[in-house]
Amino acid sequence: MSLPFQCILTGLWRNELGSKVQVQQVNGDGTFSGKYHTAVSLAQRPIQPASLNGSQHLDEAGQPTFGFTVNWKSFSDSTTVFTGQCFVDENGKEILETMWLLREKVKAPNGWEATRVGTNVFTRIKGQNVDESVRSDL
Ligand code: BTN
Repeated sequence: MSLPFQCILTGLWRNELGSKVQVQQVNGDGTFSGKYHTAVSLAQRPIQPASLNGSQHLDEAGQPTFGFTVNWKSFSDSTTVFTGQCFVDENGKEILETMWLLREKVKAPNGWEATRVGTNVFTRIKGQNVDESVRSDL
C-alpha cells in the first residue's frame, strides 16, 4: 500500500511577499537547515540571505507540522520563528501555511513593543519539486 505524500520541505519556496526560502536536505530525524532571503525588512542595513534551522514531523500520515528559526544576524539584530503545516491540494500542489513571531531588539523597558506577529503562505518555486525518489505517492 502506498503511503500518502509526506511533503518533505527540501527545496525552494516563495511566499506572498516575494521572500524565498531554500531548505537543504531534511535529515532522518526531521531536522533541517537552509537560507531565507526576505523581500522586506525593518532593518537599516541592506538585506542579506540569513540562515535558518528547523524541524519537521516525518510521520506517515502526511500534512506534517514544522518550525524553523531565522537568525538575521547578517544584517539585523532581529530573530523570527515560524511554525506551520504543509498541505497538498487535489492537484498535488503543496502549500506551507505558516505563522511567525519577529522579535526586534529594543532597549529595556520597551519589550512590550518589540514583537510582531503575522502569517505567510509559501508555495514551491516552479521546477523545484522534491525529488521523485522521496515521494511515495508517485
Ligand atoms: C528584520 O527586518 O529585522 C529582518 C527581516 C525580517 C523579515 C520578516 S520575517 C516575517 C516576514 N516574512 C517575510 O518573508 N519577511 C518578513
